[in-house]
Amino acid sequence: MELRSAHWYAGEHRNAYIHRAWMRRGVPGDAFTGRPQIAIANTASDFTPCNAHLTEVAASVKNGIYEAGGIPLELPVVSLGETNVRPTAMLWRNMAAMACEEMLRANPIDAVVLLGGCDKTIPALLMAAASVDLPAVVVPGGPMLTGTFRGAPLGCGTDVWRLSEEVRAGTLSQEQFSRSESAMIRSRGHCNTMGTASTMALVAEALGTVVPGVAGTPAPDSRLLEAAHGSGRLVVDMLAADRRPSTFLTKASFHNAIVALAAIGGSTNAVVHLLAIAGRLGVELTIDDFDRIGSHVPVLVDLQPAGRFLMEDFHRAGGLLAVLREVQDLLDPTALTVTGTPLVDYLSDAPIWDPEVIRTRSAPLVAEGGIAVLRGNLAPGGALIKPAAASPHLLQHRGPAVVFDSIEDFHARIDDPDLAVTADSVLVLRGCGPKGYPGMPEVSNMPLPKKLLEQGIRDMVRVCDGRMSGTAYGTVILHVTPEAAANGPLALVRTGDMVVLDVAARRIDVEVSEEDWARRTPNDATVTGFANPRRGWERLYIDHVQQADTGADLDFLIGSSGWKVSRESH
Ligand code: FES
Ligand code: MG
Repeated sequence: MELRSAHWYAGEHRNAYIHRAWMRRGVPGDAFTGRPQIAIANTASDFTPCNAHLTEVAASVKNGIYEAGGIPLELPVVSLGETNVRPTAMLWRNMAAMACEEMLRANPIDAVVLLGGCDKTIPALLMAAASVDLPAVVVPGGPMLTGTFRGAPLGCGTDVWRLSEEVRAGTLSQEQFSRSESAMIRSRGHCNTMGTASTMALVAEALGTVVPGVAGTPAPDSRLLEAAHGSGRLVVDMLAADRRPSTFLTKASFHNAIVALAAIGGSTNAVVHLLAIAGRLGVELTIDDFDRIGSHVPVLVDLQPAGRFLMEDFHRAGGLLAVLREVQDLLDPTALTVTGTPLVDYLSDAPIWDPEVIRTRSAPLVAEGGIAVLRGNLAPGGALIKPAAASPHLLQHRGPAVVFDSIEDFHARIDDPDLAVTADSVLVLRGCGPKGYPGMPEVSNMPLPKKLLEQGIRDMVRVCDGRMSGTAYGTVILHVTPEAAANGPLALVRTGDMVVLDVAARRIDVEVSEEDWARRTPNDATVTGFANPRRGWERLYIDHVQQADTGADLDFLIGSSGWKVSRESH
């Protein structure tokens, strides 16, 4: 098989000389005579603390690639640190994916190892790999170890929400809260709850893009470096076998990913990411598939935010394969993995070592997990709720809307003692969709009004066109589509309108007559709350981003351009 990189390096002509000469850098002279050129797409960055250790992981990947006869080459990728990047890391997911895709295509690369961790990084890498369609394997950077505070474990994210609400409710002092800060992040690695990073690493494995058994290995665990070494070897084999994403990522792979997402009680963010990855592959996947395939799958993993434990416990208890073994009958046995072997073939020897952390099928944490897709006159294109993270008594609810036009409007008024709000109210926040914010931030799990917190209220129905952190919980209806800024009916709701939620019936409606809807127009405060940038990526993004129900990718990035070699640079 002729290598793609031979289009740069083969032959004695002047251009091949240029390509080789600048790349010699001390590598053996035979590096360019038919040896596979393997990129290591690395999202390490000091601004992405969750991924900062990936350069060490890359060193182990390099060893494996050399050992298998390949030439490893690091390719820095736009890195997105969830906690820092403004206005939201999601705004840049598509940019990172596009930049990575184009650099993979533009360079003499035959195959790629993808190193990610923090929330958006693995999705962006997989979107890129799918669109360039070179052999690719993911090495997830792994979760951090469990930190403790005052003798109790601290869950990244989840406990920030919990502790900060305790401060607002007056049950935890500001000083104690501040002291917990240095205990939150115990080691290298990404968030240790079942947030988006853990979810996407595990879902990537369920998709078949990670060597089975590797996802969830803690970042400081030496077995991660062993897995990195092995993945370096493997990618050279994948190239020889021409095992590209388009050859093994099928609807069956996504079916398994959805089952896994439900069984682990994973983040709602996985929905937009899986839809976007499927869009790059031409796999027909819809939000309704998540409800159809996933909503009756039991949650077997007792991890924060839905449960008690953290990723270190999950790994010790048997990890993803132990979970999948319990739901094996729900998996599609035809789906293959990066190794060429079906995912289900890895489940025969996958015991549960701690049934408190990973439950058996007969004793699930929640009988029906997954994500429910709601529709109604408030969300004609669909909206999501994660029932396992919601309060059972609120899953059927009728209450008056309290509407906020922007996150700033929300912050300005939510703690106002005169705000007309009760535990029965439905908090509605708009202008937080892909176009409106822009980038669809994780603001849907709005903090509750202080006066209700002081009364002991810990959950309310909330409705928003944004996303929610995978580490958050509550009765939150999110990803409302179309968003307010795309002329969705969410822009027309008024404070006092009665909102009716019925999760069992999959409905979210407002009791407003059709004639009344038709007469309404958005008020000025709503419209001025929508982003309207003049230039740059934000402009490009707003003009081309799709709605959440199809994955919030840019319209012109859907599909694949393949790995076709472009014309010469000289
Ligand atoms: Fe990076 Fe949570 S902030 S994974
Ligand atoms: Mg997040």
